[in-house]
Amino acid sequence: MLDIQKIRADFPILHQQVHGKPLIYLDNGATSQKPRAVIDSLVHYYERDNSNVHRGLHALSMRATDAYEGARTRIAKFIHAADPAEIIFTRGTTESINLVARSWGHAHLKPGDIVLTTEIEHHSNLVPWQQAARASGATLTYVPVLGADGEGGLDLAALDRLLTPQVKLFAFTHISNTLGTVNPAAEFCRRARAVGAVTVIDAAQSIGHTPFDVQALGADFVAFSGHKMCGPTGIGVLYGRRALLDQLAPDETGGGMVSQVTYDDARWKPAPERFEAGTPNMADAIALGVACDYLDALGRDRIAAHDAVLAQCAMAKLSTLPGIRIIGPRAGAERSGLVSFAFAEVHAHDIVTFADEDGLALRGGHHCNQPLMRKLGLTGTTRASFYLYNTEEEIDLLVASLRRTVKFFGVT
Ligand code: ALA
Repeated sequence: MLDIQKIRADFPILHQQVHGKPLIYLDNGATSQKPRAVIDSLVHYYERDNSNVHRGLHALSMRATDAYEGARTRIAKFIHAADPAEIIFTRGTTESINLVARSWGHAHLKPGDIVLTTEIEHHSNLVPWQQAARASGATLTYVPVLGADGEGGLDLAALDRLLTPQVKLFAFTHISNTLGTVNPAAEFCRRARAVGAVTVIDAAQSIGHTPFDVQALGADFVAFSGHKMCGPTGIGVLYGRRALLDQLAPDETGGGMVSQVTYDDARWKPAPERFEAGTPNMADAIALGVACDYLDALGRDRIAAHDAVLAQCAMAKLSTLPGIRIIGPRAGAERSGLVSFAFAEVHAHDIVTFADEDGLALRGGHHCNQPLMRKLGLTGTTRASFYLYNTEEEIDLLVASLRRTVKFFGVT
């Protein structure tokens, strides 16, 4: 069991009032808060070590380089990568997926090929594949989601039909940011491998919430962001299997990624430098390593268990509200630590605005998931997304706030 009060003491931002009420932060799907250790790491870097990495022979540059490369090794351990060179620092999930879509897509996709993704992806794992398909002449196909509320998860029978040898790449989310669905990532990778398709896992919503082992999953590429796992904004990771990265051309070129340059041509360094042109985001990469330390000290298995308890608690308590429509897995079924819901008579933005007056931070809208919203016949939902510092008492306050709001709008 996690000691939630002790954890809360680690997060300075949580100890404030919003509109005269204690802050209840339930927008962790959008971004998580940062523990003191991560904030201190950023301050320490800029106060003591700031220098450019891989370029200097002076003490500060060597310290910065050691810390930056140490963070790479730390993150490799966090996801059980075989080799730190498989960790490429990016700005976040979106940049990681774009890198694969452009570099891998350009080299491997051609007319007649299929890129497979799913109907529940957020835009970051959808639009880059639309662009890659358009540029190459490949076709983009979607694994359907089942149920009027997306409660049935992805259609596994359709997946069997869709995963043909024409599929060159299968990109899917591990945990849906909108439905809370947890996809069987290892099984998807196994099935994709059986037809020779490369896999891309969007782990933005899962990596800081649940144990994650790239080798056990059999993943080819994994994308995630630091800011959703207690780390800073502006830093993320693309994991790629070494054999795949070695064949991949860079998406961006410039300093730091070249081994030799003439006026006519240039040669690339191996991964990971090949994919990190220019001065990297050193401070945030180092602080992301500290976030890994923080989460691993608590145990992601325990964080996952805490998320699951909060999700089931929220499902049970939210279901008592009149007129509520909860989307995603039904009560009792496996679901990550988030719940999305809608009321026919009240717009999600009104719900979020009223909740804000009670000190609650929720997200309302389409959650970067417009096609799924359209499929479910919704303009948007309200989402409460939980993390390691949230409590059941906060869910009670959420439900009380929503009850007041729906009463105001005459929902009975
Ligand atoms: N994809 C992020 C979310 O779900 C921004 O809120």
